[in-house]
Amino acid sequence: MLKGTIYLQGDKSISHRVLILASISKGTSKIYNLSKSDDVKRTINILRSCGITIKTINNTTFVNCKKNKLEATKKRFYCGNSGSTARFMLGFLPSQGISGTLYGDKSLSKRPMQRIIRPLKEMNIQINSKNNTLPITFTASKPKAYKHKLKIPSAQVKTALIFAALHNDSPSFITDPFKTRDHTERLLKYIGYNRKGYARFDLKNFKYSVAGDISSAAFLITAAILIPNSNITLKNILYNKTRSGYISILKKMGANIRISRKKIQCNEPICNMQIKYTKNLNSINLYQDDIITMIDEIPAFALLASFAKGTSKITDAIELRYKETDRIKAIAYNLKKFGINIREHNSGFTITGPNNLHNTNIKDFGDHRIAMMCEIAKLTINYKEIKSKKLQKKINVSFPEFYKILENLYV
Ligand code: S3P
Repeated sequence: MLKGTIYLQGDKSISHRVLILASISKGTSKIYNLSKSDDVKRTINILRSCGITIKTINNTTFVNCKKNKLEATKKRFYCGNSGSTARFMLGFLPSQGISGTLYGDKSLSKRPMQRIIRPLKEMNIQINSKNNTLPITFTASKPKAYKHKLKIPSAQVKTALIFAALHNDSPSFITDPFKTRDHTERLLKYIGYNRKGYARFDLKNFKYSVAGDISSAAFLITAAILIPNSNITLKNILYNKTRSGYISILKKMGANIRISRKKIQCNEPICNMQIKYTKNLNSINLYQDDIITMIDEIPAFALLASFAKGTSKITDAIELRYKETDRIKAIAYNLKKFGINIREHNSGFTITGPNNLHNTNIKDFGDHRIAMMCEIAKLTINYKEIKSKKLQKKINVSFPEFYKILENLYV
């Protein structure tokens, strides 16, 4: 069983955004509890190669731009596996007067970038890419004021456009009919931005405390619900409506979750969560609005739905095919191997449960969240199956403490 109380590293999604805005603030900004993931390290390294000093002492990160503007010592910027780094930097760097090339690992080099290239070009950002994938070359550009309504539910696209817009005196208007995660908007408000639209503003140094990562938490929550007698508490976890879809769905499925100490920290809702083993789970159907608020939690959800009684169906989740791997395919492939009754559709899948899992050889498809889904599936069979920490490197992309925390919680 899993037992104990933990504080998680800071949310990855928020960490990228805070670092980027801290790098253009005057003076030294202090960020507490930044994510230690490889993805966030990619953002840190790119900012450093543009002259930003970033140092972490104990759990506080100090960010300082000495020259009051970015100056690159390199022309090639490595984004690793991080879609957020690539897309945010494509909006941010050229408008900061930087020219160069963004490139990534094998998985990132296959991900669609047209979604961000097209609107950025319309904003006057000069971009060159062969197939609308990385590597992408860009030239220092002056963005023009721009009006854009998101065509696909992507907070990465929204944020890249906002970052570009912050370098023009006239405001740009970016509207998001899908209500994707709103961390950029909340963060800007927190650091004093209160104009309509997005335009240049004088950003002073700030202090920020990053809430615990809800997407990492999702795997621990899933494990605690599925492993008999478990009872864990997660403290100071992000509880933002645009990210907490999985928690609402778990409650509807009958999972034993108790939310307490709700409060606002740095303009983001946070809470404590107590999660207990739940014997009987109901199946559920998920639709587009649910999926947007739990887009990164679908692998964890799929595993959990395999234990629920009845048929759970996910539709309108085509975006899952454009993540670190085609997640619809990777979920179906692995869960089938565990003996689960799952059927893949064009924009989702159907799972009928409850299922009895048996051990198998998995394929992580180079995707950290598929790797964690498989490790939690194995953990429900037997702890010794994951003791060798075989997938540590893959999982470092988002949640380096994954195995260590499970080791500490396991009794
Ligand atoms: C993110 C947005 C989502 C999510 C990703 C992080 C962000 O991607 O899957 O892990 O920080 O804005 P999309 O914008 O592609 O949906």
